[in-house]
Amino acid sequence: MSILVTGGAGYIGSHTVVELQNAGYEVVVLDNLSNSSKESLNRIKAITGKETVFYQNDINDRAALMEIFQKEKITSCIHFAGLKAVGESVVKPWEYYQNNIAGTLVLLDEMRKHGIKNIIFSSSATVYGDPAFIPITEECPKGTCTNPYGFTKSMLEQILTDMQVADPEWNVILLRYFNPIGAHASGTIGEDPNGIPNNLMPFITQVAVGKLKELGIFGNDYDTPDGTGVRDYIHVVDLANGHVKALSKIAENCGLKIYNLGTGTGYSVFEIIKNFEEATGIKIAYSMKPRRQGDIASCYANADKAKAELDWQAKYGIREMCADAWRWQSQNPRGYGV
Ligand code: NAD
Ligand code: UD1
Repeated sequence: MSILVTGGAGYIGSHTVVELQNAGYEVVVLDNLSNSSKESLNRIKAITGKETVFYQNDINDRAALMEIFQKEKITSCIHFAGLKAVGESVVKPWEYYQNNIAGTLVLLDEMRKHGIKNIIFSSSATVYGDPAFIPITEECPKGTCTNPYGFTKSMLEQILTDMQVADPEWNVILLRYFNPIGAHASGTIGEDPNGIPNNLMPFITQVAVGKLKELGIFGNDYDTPDGTGVRDYIHVVDLANGHVKALSKIAENCGLKIYNLGTGTGYSVFEIIKNFEEATGIKIAYSMKPRRQGDIASCYANADKAKAELDWQAKYGIREMCADAWRWQSQNPRGYGV
């Protein structure tokens, strides 16, 4: 019995594979390596001592999916595979809808044809748009997305919901991630963005390691205590463990469930810089920049539902997130590259 992890060589996927293997699950990874490296799988083996069955294929590749479902004894799928760069999605909407939506439709079709109707889907707090209220509960209405990437998440949530309603044999868990940062405590796996990072923490670690000169802070005139954007940063290992808990929920034949995975605490950009500096002893140079289009002032979770129903709660604090992000970056200045 195995869990299929699509996108398992990527940032969140690789950390989830580690936690799944630590919890005793057999794992099969499907990844086309479009935004990851096979090296992450070697590193996973060094951490867990376990072998991961790996297929370098695309979720759009029906023949490959058929082969996997025929050969491997898959019981559930954790579906991470997808393109995730917000700015790129505005420039290449077709590629995002094709990869994320069409690819997921192929995956779902092959799953049901093979009688596998358990899926955990990587969604995002981005589906709340500019949230109607904060802290955000799962009852908060979905908002208007500001980019095609966000729409792929919102639409896929709808598709999965409709499929589960039409066929209650499906167990579907939609996990809405807040802002994953940090890395495994070993410092051997972590986030390895292509090019200049879009997200705050990888930008900060690249400034710290000397790859980038200074951080630009996107706006200090938001309606927040210090004027900079407030987000709910969550340690990627906590996030990974949320998936292990979600698998136990699937085993109860849970039907359709939606959970926020966040810590419930928001930090501003200035607070992140301060915590990073205190955790690592490294000063981060920064300058003020105009607001980034599509950004919102504050976004943080109410994570009570995941605690009550999944027995899951974030364990790691902001200092550990910063220290672990830095350990990964400093030990691997070029990510998985040589
Ligand atoms: P990532 O890019 O590191 O991982 C995604 C993986 O999917 C990569 O290894 C990539 O090679 C693979 N992939 C992409 N398209 C594929 C395809 N068609 N077939 C097979 N493999 C494919 O990203 P991540 O940060 O680990 O994110 C994982 C998932 O979580 C994504 O769906 C992302 O949208 C979602 N998510 C991420 C964040 C975040 O801040 N990182 C927040 C919310 C949601
Ligand atoms: C972004 C995406 C969101 C996606 C998430 C995870 C946007 C508008 N939103 O969320 O859809 O789900 O990443 O991939 O892109 N900041 C700076 N300077 C930087 C980078 C960021 O000041 O160089 C600020 C931002 O303005 C924000 C905070 O840091 O206030 C966090 O930004 P980021 O890490 O990009 O995450 P989100 O914008 O929350």
